[in-house]
Amino acid sequence: MDIDVTLTPFSSTDVTLLNRWLVAPHVARWYPDPEDHVGWSVNPPPGGERALITVGDRHVGYIRWQTVSREVLDSVGLHEIPAGSVDVDILIGDSDFVGRGIGPKALLLLLSQLRQRGDVPLVGLTTNIQNLSAQRAYSKAGFYTLREYSPPGYGRCYLMIRVLEENA
Ligand SMILES: CC(C)(COP(=O)(O)OP(=O)(O)OC[C@H]1O[C@@H](n2cnc3c(N)ncnc32)[C@H](O)[C@@H]1OP(=O)(O)O)[C@@H](O)C(=O)NCCC(=O)NCCS
Repeated sequence: MDIDVTLTPFSSTDVTLLNRWLVAPHVARWYPDPEDHVGWSVNPPPGGERALITVGDRHVGYIRWQTVSREVLDSVGLHEIPAGSVDVDILIGDSDFVGRGIGPKALLLLLSQLRQRGDVPLVGLTTNIQNLSAQRAYSKAGFYTLREYSPPGYGRCYLMIRVLEENA
């Protein structure tokens, strides 16, 4: 049966849930700075947005995205990525819901939302080179590995991107 995945608004009362997800072993391995993520979720910077990933009426994960400036891209060596691109982070926090295709569906929902904005050239995700589950999930949502890079504090990572074609 097709799983009913939606992106639903995140409110400050959801911070407890996010905290719990960030310390779950399958997530904590890839999210070394949970406090940063919690702080960001409470008060996103300009150009930053977030949502809960919801299956039916159950919240199972978190997705956040951020429009990135030329200055920020250059500071991490991503000179070829156009300014105004959107960087995404995602997690399925409830381990019962991992490996069921929910991450790729959530990404496709976000892509269609961003496409409607009309001003996003490209969407990117950064994943540790050892995070094979993430790489497989992102491929299912149409992302491909552009190259390897090492953002400060995250070790060797792949940058996976998807160009946002109109009318796709
Ligand atoms: C990465 C993540 C968002 C992918 O979402 P998802 O809904 O699990 O994605 P999928 O169901 O498409 O599964 C992707 C791959 O995970 C692997 N997988 C399947 N079941 C799994 C499980 N129980 N535990 C771990 N990985 C599993 C499989 O390799 C699967 O690929 P396949 O279907 O081609 O075999 C999610 O697994 C997650 O949040 N993981 C922990 C946090 C994380 O790694 N975030 C990303 C940081 S860059």
